[in-house]
This record gives sequence, structure tokens and C-alpha cells, in this order.
Amino acid sequence: LRRLAERRYPHLKIGTAVAAIPLLSDSDYARVLGEQFNMVTPENVMKFQFIHPQPDRYAFADADAIVDFAELNHMAVHGHTLAWKEALPRWVTEGNHDDDELEHILAEHIATVVGRYKGRIASWDVINEPFEPFGSELRTGSPWYQAMGEDYIAFALREAHRADPDAKLYINDYALEHRGPKSDAMYELAKSLLEDGVPLHGIGFQMHEDMTDDYQPIGVDAFRENVQRFIDLGLEVRISEMDVNLQEDDSRKRLKQQAKYYRDIFELAKEKRAFTAFSIWGFTDRYSSLQDWWNEEGFGNGLIFDTQKKPKPAYHSLKSSLEE
Ligand code: G3I
Repeated sequence: LRRLAERRYPHLKIGTAVAAIPLLSDSDYARVLGEQFNMVTPENVMKFQFIHPQPDRYAFADADAIVDFAELNHMAVHGHTLAWKEALPRWVTEGNHDDDELEHILAEHIATVVGRYKGRIASWDVINEPFEPFGSELRTGSPWYQAMGEDYIAFALREAHRADPDAKLYINDYALEHRGPKSDAMYELAKSLLEDGVPLHGIGFQMHEDMTDDYQPIGVDAFRENVQRFIDLGLEVRISEMDVNLQEDDSRKRLKQQAKYYRDIFELAKEKRAFTAFSIWGFTDRYSSLQDWWNEEGFGNGLIFDTQKKPKPAYHSLKSSLEE
């Protein structure tokens, strides 16, 4: 995939989330990753709980390993993530910090993490999932919101920009693909940040999809229509975490529907210059976040390589779209 993309669509990175454990222990995983993709997003190891487990201790080893691997293989890195309400260590959530302390903790965290990878990480999900799952309300539960209110968003973006002025800064969320209360609210947020001169460069559309019998996937036309207004603000956009969950039924018919869905979304990304990346949330069903693979309780089936890391119809559909 990456060779075709680099030849035909050099502005559009072909990305995947990467987990540190298989990267360091499964040579087949590393080989397919380096061959097929030219952008990686660390799936977990740059999240606050893992990279900053104690107030005065950072744990960079796994994140460094991913960044080193990416550089060796001429891949871009998309950092994930700086200000989120989840994946926080206890010392943050249960530390009884006052508002000023929390503001200081977030600023120091961003300066340290972004600063460490300055010039090596091209883009960041500075803000992850700021909205409630399916409404227009901002999530109020995070320590960052509790300390600063809505201003934590501009604050985090400014701190990240200060730490690496060349990095592209994103807000990333799900259920934004079609027009509705949540995407309307994201649009208004992005517009007002830009009007205030806040360094925001792009929006990530996650695209975690379920394909059950009673489920209507997001129409590509609705997505095209919705995404255009973000592009018209001058923003970059990216498909940031696509997977298409088939759940129990992974019949041939279902695999074909999955392939078509990947292809339709990919074609939209191909069509509009503002798309900087088409990135999926892992590439092999062997290590998919759709299952608790670290508990060895089974595998997901939402990705483009099977559990043996063999290409699925979805892989072939992306490849043939790239060849057209
Ligand atoms: O590594 C530890 C392990 O040491 C420990 O024994 C085990 C027991 O709980 O946990 C392991 O960490 C888990 C990690 O995944 C696996 O590496 C965390 O508990 C678990 O919370 C974490 O889940 C991740 C989830 O985000 C929450 O951070 C998923 O892997 C990851 O795929 C998922 O990714 C999110 C994006 O960040 C944001 N958008 C949605 C997306 C999918 O849910």
C-alpha cells in the first residue's frame, strides 16, 4: 500500500495504530508494518498513564522504540494523545490538586512530551474526544476541564505549539463523520479557536464502525458533505482510527461489505487534497483493540489483515483503489 500511495498520492499518508508489545516481540508484525504503511500512531504508549506514570517520572522507552522504528523505516509519526479524559494515572485523577496545579501539570506534561519528540513527530492529537459520545456537549469530567473549563482546549493547543512550532495540531473525535449535533459543535469549536488565533491545524475523524445486520454505515455522501465545511475553514482532515467491526459474523459476504466500506472511505480521502492521512486502528486482527488481545480472549475482525497477518478482501480493495 505504501509504495503505491507514495507514487500516486504523496500527500496522503497510509497509517496505522501501532502497539509496542508486538512491535518488539513479533517480527512478522514489524515486517508487515514497515512494508505497508508510511505513518504510525502509537496506540497507547504516549497516553498520559503510560508515558508519565508518576509526577516526576516519565517512561519513554516504548514510545522511543516506536519513533525509532518509524524513522528507520521512513515513516511519519502521529502522536496520540495529550489532553484526554481517559488513560490518566491515579496521581492525576486522585491527587487532590487545585486548579492551578492541574494547569501546571498539563503544561509541564505537554512541554516535556512534545519537546522530547520535537522535529520527529509531525502531528499530534493534542485534544482527544472532547465531546460527549453522541451529543453537542463538551465532556466536563476530565481534570483538565474541571480546572480550566472549555479553555483547556486552547491552552493545550498553545502549549503544544510552543513546544514544537512545526507540528500540526489536531482535535480527534468519533461520531463526527456526518452532520449532526456533535459535528456541528465540533465545527463551531474549531471555527472559534481559529478566530481567536489558536494554533489548530486539523480534525481527526476516527471512523470506528460496526457492521451488524441492523446497522447502516455512515453514508459516504453524508461524510463528504460534512467534511467540506471543516476544509473550508482552512483545516486539514484525517481518517484517524478506522476499523469496521463485523462482530460474530465474518462470512464472505460480510468481508466483502467490509472491503467496500474501507474502499469507499479511502476514495473520499483520495478525492480531497485536505486529507493528510488515511489511518486505521491497527492492521492485523491478531492485535486489534476490538478484542482484549492482551487477555488472550480472542480476536477482533475489523482490520485489513487477518490473525495470521494475511491480507483480507479489505486490503485488496484499498490496493486496487490505489492502483486506479
Ligand atoms: O498494558 C497494560 C497491561 O500491563 C495490563 O496488565 C492490562 C490490564 O488492564 O492493561 C494493559 O493496558 C491496556 C491497554 O489498552 C493494552 O495495551 C489498558 O488497560 C487499556 O485501557 C488500553 O485500552 C486502549 C484504550 O484506547 C484506552 O486507552 C486500547 O488498547 C486502545 O486501542 C484504545 O484506543 C482508543 C483511542 O485511544 C481513542 N479513540 C478510541 C480508540 C479505541 O477504543
